[in-house]
Amino acid sequence: MASHIRIDGLTKEYRIYGGKKFKAVDSLNLEIEKGEIFGLLGPNGAGKTTTLNMLLGFVFPTSGKAWVLGQRIGKVGVKRRISSLSEFPATCEYLNVEEMLHFYGALFGLSKRERNKKIDELLEVVGLGREARKRKLSDLSKGMR
Ligand SMILES: Nc1ncnc2c1ncn2[C@@H]1O[C@H](COP(=O)(O)OP(=O)(O)OP(=O)(O)O)[C@@H](O)[C@H]1O
Ligand SMILES: [Mg+2]
Repeated sequence: MASHIRIDGLTKEYRIYGGKKFKAVDSLNLEIEKGEIFGLLGPNGAGKTTTLNMLLGFVFPTSGKAWVLGQRIGKVGVKRRISSLSEFPATCEYLNVEEMLHFYGALFGLSKRERNKKIDELLEVVGLGREARKRKLSDLSKGMR
């Protein structure tokens, strides 16, 4: 599997009022290669969020298949290797930056020493710097998050 993301006939039908079905995504085919930056554009209600939620394993496709990093979507293994920033991130607003990063680092099984090292590295990578450690999440802009 060469492509980083491959979508093959992906379809989602939601069940709506009165037991009716509504097709939100209809037989989508797509391939995204390694290193490619891909923008998924479309009108409101076109099915973009539904597509991303299927790739992330939050929504189950009605039919079709998709692979992320060579694995079928929904597999736990692939979830460890991908990340997403949603419009409404489920972060605890009262935490500060280092508390939030310790929380996620612990979920990934990193020791406290490893987390401390990684937190400084990541803050440098994203251009916030170590001084951001104590800033509250509620005070950060969307991009900084
Ligand atoms: N849980 C749900 N149950 C029923 N219908 C849904 C559900 N989620 C989304 N839909 C419908 O599926 C269609 C696609 O919605 P989706 O949120 O994927 O669109 P979108 O492209 O992300 O739109 P936007 O640009 O407004 O964010 C819409 O008609 C929406 O009403
Ligand atoms: Mg959306």
